[in-house]
This record gives sequence, structure tokens and C-alpha cells, in this order.
Amino acid sequence: MEKAKEIVNRMTLKEKASLCSGQDFWRLQGVEKAGLPSIMATDGPHGLRKTIKGTDHIGVTASLPSTCFPTSVTTACSWDPHLLEEIGKAIGSECKSEGVSILLGPGMNIKRSPLCGRNFEYISEDPYLTGKMAAGMIRGIQSMGIGATMKHFVANNKEGFRLVSDSIVDQRALQEIYLTGFEMALNEGQPWVVMAAYNKVNGTYCCENRYLMTEVLREKWGFSGIIVSDWGATDHRIRALNAGLDVEMPSTYGEQDRRIYRGVKKGRVLENTLNETAERIVDILIKAKNNADENATYDKETHHRLARKAARESYVLLKNDEDLLPLDTGRSTAIIGDMAKNPRYQGLGSSMLHPTFLENTLDEMEKQGWNVSFAPGYTWNSDEVEEEKIKEASTLAAGCEAAVVFVGLPEKYEAENLDRKHMKMPASHQRLIQEVAKANPNTVVVLAGGAPVEMPWINEVKAVVNGYLGGQAGASAMLEILCGKANPCGKLAETYPVALKDNPTYNYFVCIDPKIVQYRESVYVGYRFYDTASKEVLFPFGHGLSYTKFSYENLRLSCDKMKDNERLVVRMTVRNIGDRPGKEVVQVYVRDTDTTVFRPEKELKGFEKVHLDPGEAKELEFVLDFRAFAYYNTALDNWHVESGFFEILIGASSRDMRLQGRVYVESSEPDAPVPYDLETASEYHHLKNEPFRVSDAAFQAIYGSPVSATKKEKVEEFTLNSTMDDMQHTLIGKAILWKVKRESLKMPEGELNEGMQNALDAMVKESPIRTLNMASKGDVSLLTIRGLVQLANKEYLEGLRTLLIAARRKRD
Ligand code: BGC
Repeated sequence: MEKAKEIVNRMTLKEKASLCSGQDFWRLQGVEKAGLPSIMATDGPHGLRKTIKGTDHIGVTASLPSTCFPTSVTTACSWDPHLLEEIGKAIGSECKSEGVSILLGPGMNIKRSPLCGRNFEYISEDPYLTGKMAAGMIRGIQSMGIGATMKHFVANNKEGFRLVSDSIVDQRALQEIYLTGFEMALNEGQPWVVMAAYNKVNGTYCCENRYLMTEVLREKWGFSGIIVSDWGATDHRIRALNAGLDVEMPSTYGEQDRRIYRGVKKGRVLENTLNETAERIVDILIKAKNNADENATYDKETHHRLARKAARESYVLLKNDEDLLPLDTGRSTAIIGDMAKNPRYQGLGSSMLHPTFLENTLDEMEKQGWNVSFAPGYTWNSDEVEEEKIKEASTLAAGCEAAVVFVGLPEKYEAENLDRKHMKMPASHQRLIQEVAKANPNTVVVLAGGAPVEMPWINEVKAVVNGYLGGQAGASAMLEILCGKANPCGKLAETYPVALKDNPTYNYFVCIDPKIVQYRESVYVGYRFYDTASKEVLFPFGHGLSYTKFSYENLRLSCDKMKDNERLVVRMTVRNIGDRPGKEVVQVYVRDTDTTVFRPEKELKGFEKVHLDPGEAKELEFVLDFRAFAYYNTALDNWHVESGFFEILIGASSRDMRLQGRVYVESSEPDAPVPYDLETASEYHHLKNEPFRVSDAAFQAIYGSPVSATKKEKVEEFTLNSTMDDMQHTLIGKAILWKVKRESLKMPEGELNEGMQNALDAMVKESPIRTLNMASKGDVSLLTIRGLVQLANKEYLEGLRTLLIAARRKRD
């Protein structure tokens, strides 16, 4: 096979330009004359979503059956990169058998706020855990010869106005929190593809961000694959190409290719830049071709069993007073909650797929011969309080020895495109729990949903198991946990705060202008905030119970003094001191006790999951290197370790430390400058135990430039990036909205449920007008949209002229 460079050398300028955007909604352009067919890239991440009729990226149109693994929020709790590798391998083999070359996953954005509607697709609030788990999945997918995609690069931490919002994040937080997971997954997984996110970072669209794509990703980290845009994320194609974006997705049906062609001719893009992009793309086409296998198949049953194992390994036992669980299947048990019949097992949006099988708890119980009776308690797709149903449920519970209540977040409470407004479960579910708990002291709550919820009822029930979104085999896995056939071994990959107001982004998630998000909490994300501010939490990061108990013993550090370029070897022993086999996730945190700059009270720097039989002990070894002790010093523009003492904390969660040691680390750069004015930023050094707020001056001191956000009451001039929300009062805006609504009504009846409809409405309102091109599959050209924008700006002559040219081009 010819090399990419040789192939590109033989291509014309037009051919090279045409590689820079998709062939259609899901395909990258091929190079026919070199025998390289176009290739398919599709969602992801927790299974393959290959649409069969029509195309969309919001999960509306039908897709081929594929295995629906638990979503990332769930599998993250396994703390087991090997499991993620197995899942990745299975998804890779499904891609292979369906002729898909690139899977659009894993999703790796940090859970900055529990309100992000898409948290179910993401891994953790912690970058180290995110990096390790994503790397496992990437290795698995790519072991099948299928490309994996790290997405969404980067700081895409909320859904509202996601295509036009600007994440204002200080360089240190960007490096330590938002980039680190990607960096680790790149080093350990070597993905073929990175997807540039919709949003801007510090004023520049990710797809046009030279710093992020070229300086960080390629030059600093050595990424050699391709960067594709998120679907519809590209604003200015020439700026994007110059900044390092390779492929714009989906297709713009030739329009942007022509722009690139003209750009090279007019010297706005160097041909060499285009050549390098083309070589990277051709390289991927070659890999895809070499790995394709028309005869590939997979076994649905085997993958279903793997989905069950994934769920079992990930469910988290949050509470288990008086060892109520496991339940005795011979005792009478009331099963309550419509979700036991109509499970919530995946999230809404582009990741939503059509499972090969789908279990529900009631059927599974029947199959296993449990002695159960059932009352729905509520209707699964509604959040109305239904008194009769609640009464029926509590009467049933009163007559049984135990009650298991299946509740959580209904589908419409969280979705891609739509952030949550609060952290509450429906009132109907809360009332149900409380009434059942009153009727039966042995009440277990089984939670479903993709993100933390407040639990005002927590002291009224004895046990809680968090099933998150368990995938297609989640029901049988949950039964194994409930009856003790399996021992729970998942641990939370995010903190459960008591209430939303405890989260550090409470005052800053949507603040002043919904399109400008100030990350004022800086590095204090998740437990980094709660633990530093000594906030009471409902369940801490890393928490998860087992039916057995473990002891942590014999901590040994390889030295008590070291240089920052040396490595510290940490050894300890973990022992199963209970009477059941089980798995424990041992976590290693590092605390800088002598820091000059503000730092989180502790940070995760290692973990391992081990299986232990009763009485069995294993010695674990963790290696801590420079980065385990470093923070990002913005004055050096590099990682830096200060001389001083560091505590090594070994725990079962971020709030349950079992062993503690200390090491002195000597800096190789003892004279490094302090990166910000300590006095002005002193609020970051003394977090208060109250809803987090930080002054403009303090944020400015660490951000480095002025930051105040004011909302423009009226948009002065419309652009291609104006949203329907901006334009809704203009005549043109109204006309477009009418047309868009009419088109969306043409969706096949019955396919849009309430959650989807809400997500779609939000998308229409909050997307920039340029995305009409994608929404119409190229029917409405970018030039036409430009003409409409001119009309909205009352530039009538210019607008009509542009529309005429656009119409002529379309006709030709
Ligand atoms: C999502 C991506 C997804 C793409 C294609 C976008 O809206 O943000 O995660 O891969 O659509 O469906």
C-alpha cells in the first residue's frame, strides 16, 4: 500500500480540499483513485448507533440493534480500566461487523456540575479516573482495528447554548482539571481521533483554537491522528483549518470544500497546511481499509452477558443499615415503582441506541422464582403524583417482609441539549419512597438516572443501591446484587452533594449571560472543592459499600525524601476480613501540606481494584511520579513541584482514609515564581463552608485578564452565530422558526417522546443559525443563510443579492 504522503502528492487541490469535510452525515470522504473507500464514523459511546433510516444526531431516527452497555456514568463506578477495555473490544467488534470504522466515543468531559444534561455520557469529576477509564476503552475499541474518538475536546461542561457558549476557564484549571484526562488517555490509549467540542474556550471556538489543537494536542502531547469537529461545530472553515481542524462533520455538500480551495488559491491557507491535514486523513483511511473485514460477526448473547457483567461491576451500594441487603429471595418482597417494569437504562440524545435485548426487573424476578408482588407507584414517563398508586404501593409494602422501590430520574429530566434545572427527583418518586418506608421498615431504594439527586428521604430507608443507567442487561445484574449472588463492588466516580447549593458551580453554572460560563471555582471541582471546604456531603467521591469488609495494612513508602524527578513506590496490603468473596477499590490520594499556591486538600493519583476471597490478602504497589506532586504553574507555563512535605493517603473513598504516610519532595526548580498575586487571590486559599462565590478581583488574579460578564440586552447585529433565540423577534427569525417547526413536525409520529421534544426545542432555540445547513442536510446553503442574516440586519439589497447568487449556485 502506498504511504499517505505519496497518495496526497498525487491528489489535486480540489481532491485534497474535499477530504476536509464529511461525504455525508456519517461518512468521511475516501480517495477513490487510491482505492481508499469512504469510511463511516458514528456514535458511541456505550454501544454502536448506526442509523438505518434517515440521519440525525439527537437519537430520534431508528438505528440497527446493537448491545447497549451501561453508560459511562455507570461503568466509571467499576473503577476498572480492564472492564472498559473488554467493553471497548465488544463495541469495536460490533462496529467491525457493521462496517463502521470509527466510533465516536469515549465522552470524557469533566462533571463540573451535576446539572449538565449530558453527565450520563461522561466518566467522572476527576481527571485521573477519567483518563484511566477512557484509555481502557480506547485500547479495547482499537484492538479491533476500529478508531476511537476522545470527545468533546474541551471544557464542554454544559448543554445549554452549547454551540455558542464560551467557557472562561483559567489556564491552571484548564490544565489540571479539563485537559489532564485527555492527555492521559492519549498517552495510554493512542486514539485515532479527537473530536473538537462545540463551545469556545476563552473566547475562541474549540474548532478554531490553535492553542488547544496544535500547540497542546499535537505539539506538546504528540497526537498524530485526526481532529474532527463535533457535528455542526465549525464556524469559520479557513480559521479552523489553519488552527489544526482536519475534518468538518457532517458534510457541507461541497460548500466548505470550495471555500478551502479558494482559500489556498488566495493564500489564506498554505497548501502545505492542507497537505498535512490531507495526509493525516489519508493515513486514517489506510488504517481503516487495512482493518476492514466484510465477514466479521459478533455473538449477541456473549455481548449481552458482558453488558450484565459491566452493570454488576459498576452498581454502587450507597447505604446498607443493619445489613438489610442482600435480601432473602424466599421472604415476601414488595417490588414497587414503574421503573421495575419500564427500566431507564440509557440516556437521551446522540448516544441513544436500539438494544439487541432488553431486560426488566419484574420479568427477571419471575424467571428466577422470587416471591414478589408488584405495585407501580407512579407512571414511568410522567412526574405526576398519583395518590391512588402511592396508597396501593404502601399497602402492598405493609404486607411484605421487605420492600424494594425502583425510582430515579425520568428520561425527560436529563438529556443531551438540555441541562437540568435542579437536582431533585420527581415529587411522585420522593413521596412514594417516604410512604413505603413508613409502611415497611425494611425498605431498599434502587436508583436509576444519569446524575446525582438530592435525597431528603435518605434517613427513612435502610438501604440504597445506585444503578445509574445500567444498559440492556442491567435488571438481572441488579437482582444479583439484591439477592447476594454478586457482591457489590462499584464506587462513586463523582460526589453526591447534600443539595445543589453545595456544588461550587451553584452560582456560576448559568450566570448573567447563559452563553458565557465563568469557571470561577478554578481547580475546585467535585471532591476537590467539598473536601477543601469541609462541606458535608451525602456520599463522597469513591464511596461504595460491599457485603464483606476490608482492612488496609502495612503502608510502606520507598523513601521519605526524594527529588521531584524521582519516583515514589507506595506499597500496602489489603485484606478481606469478612466472610464473602468481594472486590475492593483502593484509592491513593496526595496532599501537598506545604504549598504556597492554593491547592485542593487532596487529589487522586492512583487506584486499583482487587478481588479477594475471605481471609485473603494482596500486596498492592503504586508508583507516584512528578505529576502526582505537581500543579500547573502559569508563570512557568509548565508543571511544577514545590519543595515540601506531601502526605500519601490510602483510602476507601475521599472521606475514608485508612493509611497515611509522608514524603519530602525536593523541587528541581526551587526559584520558580509564584504565578499570581497571593493577596488578591486569597479567597482561593480560604474556602468558606457556604455557597461558593469568589470576587471579580480574585478570579481576575488567577485568570490573568478582566472577566466581568454582562448580558447584552439587545443583539446589535446578527451573524451566522446568532441563535434563534436572538433572532426570534425579527420577521426573518419568525419565518425561519415557522419553517423549522414545520419540518420537525414531519418526523414520523410516535418517535418523539416528551424528553426528545424538549431537547429538540432547546436545540432549535439555542443553536446558531448556521446550523440550518446541517439540519437541512445541505438543502439550505451557508450562502443562503448569510443572505437571511443580511435581511434580518435590514441590509435588504445585499441580502437579496446574496440569496440570488445562492439560488443560482444551487441550480447549477
Ligand atoms: C454530539 C456528539 C455526537 C455527534 C454525532 C453531536 O451532537 O455532541 O457527541 O458524536 O452529535 O451524533
